[in-house]
Amino acid sequence: MVAVPASGWAPANFPTWSRMAETRRVLVTGGAGFVGATLVRRLVESGHAVRVLDNLTTGDASHLEGVDAELVEGDVRDAKTMDEALGGIESVVHLAAAGSVVMSVADPATNFNVNVFGTFQVLDAVRRAGVGRTVLASTGGALIGDAIPPVNERSLPKPISPYGASKLAGEGYAHAFAKAYGLRTIALRFANAYGPWSARKRGAVTTFFRAINGGEPIVIYGDGSASRDYTHVDDICRALELALGSEVPGGTVLHIASGVETTVQLLADLCRSAAGVPDHPIEYRPKRVGEVERNFASYDLAKELLGFEPSISREEGIRETWQWFQESVFAER
Ligand SMILES: NC(=O)c1ccc[n+]([C@@H]2O[C@H](COP(=O)([O-])OP(=O)(O)OC[C@H]3O[C@@H](n4cnc5c(N)ncnc54)[C@H](O)[C@@H]3O)[C@@H](O)[C@H]2O)c1
Repeated sequence: MVAVPASGWAPANFPTWSRMAETRRVLVTGGAGFVGATLVRRLVESGHAVRVLDNLTTGDASHLEGVDAELVEGDVRDAKTMDEALGGIESVVHLAAAGSVVMSVADPATNFNVNVFGTFQVLDAVRRAGVGRTVLASTGGALIGDAIPPVNERSLPKPISPYGASKLAGEGYAHAFAKAYGLRTIALRFANAYGPWSARKRGAVTTFFRAINGGEPIVIYGDGSASRDYTHVDDICRALELALGSEVPGGTVLHIASGVETTVQLLADLCRSAAGVPDHPIEYRPKRVGEVERNFASYDLAKELLGFEPSISREEGIRETWQWFQESVFAER
């Protein structure tokens, strides 16, 4: 990995970049985060030249250690930074975001600024640069809100958190820029992702594993009957790569999910059994504002248009994620 500050950046300065100039050149915003860590590895392995633009708020340069990609430290909200980062780029995956539902409820203005203005700035820079495919990370559950699952692309979005609203606004701009300026945008509505490189996340799998490792009770908000669609990050990243190479029309929106409903209680049981502590204590606390009650999604349209199908079962994925935490996070304490 070559790390450079945003200012003074120029493609010619970077040997990796010029060596790979003949390959497919992708900018991944937010590529030093959880999903980015797997995606950037995957794209490099399949022959892409990858540049990451990340301001390292929730991401970490160490996520990309040993990966043959460039890391430009900068903010997607800055037009000049975006214009420079798009130099020589053929396609974009926009992952950079403030991704927490709970934090969006506490501080909606920051969430709006990063997710709505940030996505607008990415799309506007893509428009100026004339870049080809732009894939945007959207969200399933938080954007649709409380609806009877399984949700799909025909479900009416009614977000109940500022985070969900910000992702819906981003999809709106992606569609508008496709129609008004011919941008080849595609928004993928991820289900709840879990997997390696998630140590900095606050999602259920990460917090349950941390509680188990720390000898603290697992905390469940609500009675455990709330449900989510937990999808392994490898499956999400396969969908992102398929979307990059697809010919679907600009403005397309697709759900990327496992299609399986898992209650929070069952998730806790799977985590406890993966860790070999089936009787680890659980503490139940009141439900939090902004969190949807039930959610899982259908990936039928993504299967039809991208050939996407999830390949990792929750049992296998959670077991493998516990092993990753053991080897890469807890072993270092
Ligand atoms: N993880 C999930 O379960 C999930 C589910 C649905 C959607 N998503 C979406 O997928 C994308 C990636 O999520 P993640 O889980 O990897 O989150 P993450 O927080 O680990 O990664 C986001 C990255 O964006 C960077 N970033 C934030 N603001 C930035 C800015 N203004 N300029 C440049 N970089 C910035 C962060 O430093 C971080 O590296 C996000 O758009 C998120 O909303 C994630």
